[in-house]
Amino acid sequence: MIDRSDTTWWQRAIFYQIYPRSFQDSNADGVGDLRGIMARLDYLTGLGVDALWISPFFRSPMLDAGYDIADYRDVDPMFGTMADFGELLAAAHERGIRVVIDLVVNHSSDQHPWFESARSSIDDPRHDWYIWQPMTGTRPPNNWVSLFEHRSAWYPNEATGEWYLATFTRHQPEFNWRNPELRQAIYDIARFWLDAGVDGFRMDVATAYFKDSQFRSNPFSWNLNPNLFQHHRYDRNQPEVHAVFREFRAIADSYGDRVLIGETHGQDAALAASCHGDNDDELHMAFNFDFLRSPWGARPFMDSARRWYRALPAGAWPNFTLSNHDQKRHHWRYRAGSDTEARARVAATLLLGLRGTPFLYYGEELGMDCQRLPRACLRDPLGRSTWPLSFGRDPERTPMQWDDSPYAGFSVTMPWLPVNDDYRRKNVATQEANHGSLLAWYKALIALRKAEPAMQSGNIAWIEAPADVMAWTRTLGARHIDVVLNFGARARTIHLAGGSISLGTRADAGSSIAAGYYRLAPYEVLIIAEEDV
Ligand code: NOJ
Repeated sequence: MIDRSDTTWWQRAIFYQIYPRSFQDSNADGVGDLRGIMARLDYLTGLGVDALWISPFFRSPMLDAGYDIADYRDVDPMFGTMADFGELLAAAHERGIRVVIDLVVNHSSDQHPWFESARSSIDDPRHDWYIWQPMTGTRPPNNWVSLFEHRSAWYPNEATGEWYLATFTRHQPEFNWRNPELRQAIYDIARFWLDAGVDGFRMDVATAYFKDSQFRSNPFSWNLNPNLFQHHRYDRNQPEVHAVFREFRAIADSYGDRVLIGETHGQDAALAASCHGDNDDELHMAFNFDFLRSPWGARPFMDSARRWYRALPAGAWPNFTLSNHDQKRHHWRYRAGSDTEARARVAATLLLGLRGTPFLYYGEELGMDCQRLPRACLRDPLGRSTWPLSFGRDPERTPMQWDDSPYAGFSVTMPWLPVNDDYRRKNVATQEANHGSLLAWYKALIALRKAEPAMQSGNIAWIEAPADVMAWTRTLGARHIDVVLNFGARARTIHLAGGSISLGTRADAGSSIAAGYYRLAPYEVLIIAEEDV
């Protein structure tokens, strides 16, 4: 059962992102669904996660995999019903697992009734709920680009003689957050789900809600990917968004124990940091995507973590993530032949050992990979528009690998995306039976993080380390936990304070090591506990 008086649960929690279409199919249609998630709650409890972030399952034409919502208050039949969601929520809460859902309110689907009426006439009461510019010729009003269609983000609307703005696909018209009624309508959606008992929101491209009020063109930038040769100064990340964050926060706070997690639309830690507000009155957390783009290595990860800690305002709580549904899985990004699995253990320890809430992406605990998909299999609009230069985001969205039966135990029929070729070898059942598996490593790390309050909320201080090694101490009261990671394929020597080994890839848990020099094997991970006397 969850504790509703616990307002900071999200600081201690281990989050697990579920892409519902790919987690578990319960009705043999090849598509994952809410009842499928329910059927796998025991697995999630066994893994030790405390909170789920479930990607969109709302009514949608699925032209951007559910990030194009046509009814914010209903479940898409592909995923089940509202009653299924209620049961899932209750069953998760029963096990003490919180549930955070996606709030996609930078844009709706073009099939949302609001847009259908807004586009019908300038006099429609909802016309101003979306962003329009008059059509005075064939040239769009400025140079803003569609990230998924690689063309102008302005699309003509014949009925009103205007352009509407859509910076993802053309089917995702953007809301006008400057309109007070639209704002209230969105807050009502938020209240609807909070009243239903959800534990918070992951807010899709939250920093993009506002665009420049004068619609100025973006300046040129040499950055092609992902910026499409533009510095996005005017089409996202405007200061007006902070007032909206404060309004959202007041709503969340009125429910006591709910969390707001913003997805930022930009790359730097400073942008993510700014979403917290200087007075802890905006979002509880905002994703910093630095790790998703970091090269492998102790130095880049350490620099990134330090930048993030420095950027956050006093009192704000960090978070870390290595993989999600928009980026190639880190197992693939950091592949290194026979060293790949050793690297996965280092990466997992990084994520679960740092100070900050960890976000796991389904299947990373198995070392799920990305593989090339034939053009005919691609579903992601981004992949379809960029193939063969890129495969889009389908490779990181393939079905969860549960066992070695056909379709990996995900479904009994051909899934919506092909199962990865390695599923017979790499799946939950096989790894649960093997104490030395990556899944077992994740479980051990998660169990340790839960057993050691210092790992959850302790301070962090860096330990001086040789090249390729990243090491730090988490401290709470008299308890110190040293986390030592060798990112390299060469042995390294480090000076350690000594203590009792809690977990290690080579050393035995329970044994102790004396203060002094310790020789770390390639990719060795060591976690040592010590207590002041
Ligand atoms: C960010 C989401 O994570 C991504 O999957 C989606 O395509 C865009 N926002 C548009 O909603």
